[in-house]
Amino acid sequence: MTGRNAGGRLAGQVAVITGGGSGIGRGLVLGFAQEGARVAVLERDPVRGRAVVEAVAAAGGDARWFDCDVSRAEQVTRAVTAAADEYGSIDVLVNNAGITTTAPLGELSLRQWSETIAVDLTGVFLMTQAVSGVMMGQRRGRIINIASQLGLRGAPQMAHYCAAKAGVLGLTRACARELVAHGIRVNAIAPGPTMTENLAGVPQGILDEIRSELPIECFAARHRCRGTLGRAATRDRYQ
Ligand SMILES: NC(=O)c1ccc[n+]([C@@H]2O[C@H](COP(=O)([O-])OP(=O)(O)OC[C@H]3O[C@@H](n4cnc5c(N)ncnc54)[C@H](O)[C@@H]3O)[C@@H](O)[C@H]2O)c1
Repeated sequence: MTGRNAGGRLAGQVAVITGGGSGIGRGLVLGFAQEGARVAVLERDPVRGRAVVEAVAAAGGDARWFDCDVSRAEQVTRAVTAAADEYGSIDVLVNNAGITTTAPLGELSLRQWSETIAVDLTGVFLMTQAVSGVMMGQRRGRIINIASQLGLRGAPQMAHYCAAKAGVLGLTRACARELVAHGIRVNAIAPGPTMTENLAGVPQGILDEIRSELPIECFAARHRCRGTLGRAATRDRYQ
């Protein structure tokens, strides 16, 4: 790509993507930029945040990193305000930031539970609340929550993660019904296992068990995630 893609499916659009410094989020940032969007990357890891923005710039795209831990209300407010001021509007929000750990139920600490709920569920709520305020003023917007297949089917040693992701699905349905009156469309996508850094701490036995249940017996590659969001992110006849 040389120069921002003026003919891309997201040309002229502004997207906010959380956790865009790694894995699925990084793939989405690169894909959105390739389709012509200007991308605000809300990421708590500065090394990853800067690296993805440099990768977008090297490809001729436009992305900016905003330091933000999505589980912290004051950081969310500050980063969303800064992104809206910088770009003047927010057309798409992708709630992607998430953490994954494993522990047998009896050993799952309250701290581990609370951290996962704070990032994977409360973070989606805080971001949706802040960005929907901007979108209501525009009377348009699309919000896409990255849930997980495990929020639908469950998995051993992941009660905290599965509960958070099931919560994201409920939050998505509630927000979809409430925000449609403001011209805002809310969807969730529930990916299957995808080979990212997120899975580094998951024991091999659990990975093997998950893989054995997949019809094609292999994990998705993160760069393939871009296309999945295409339909939810672009404008269509509902907008
Ligand atoms: N990898 C999978 O198999 C898989 C499957 C289904 C769903 N998901 C979901 O997809 C999303 C991305 O997962 P991934 O595998 O790409 O993970 P990853 O660990 O590769 O990337 C997650 C990114 O989010 C950032 N992040 C973490 N906590 C944050 C916070 N509080 N505030 C801001 N940024 C934060 C991390 O720094 C990292 O850059 C997550 O919500 C995850 O639950 C992943």
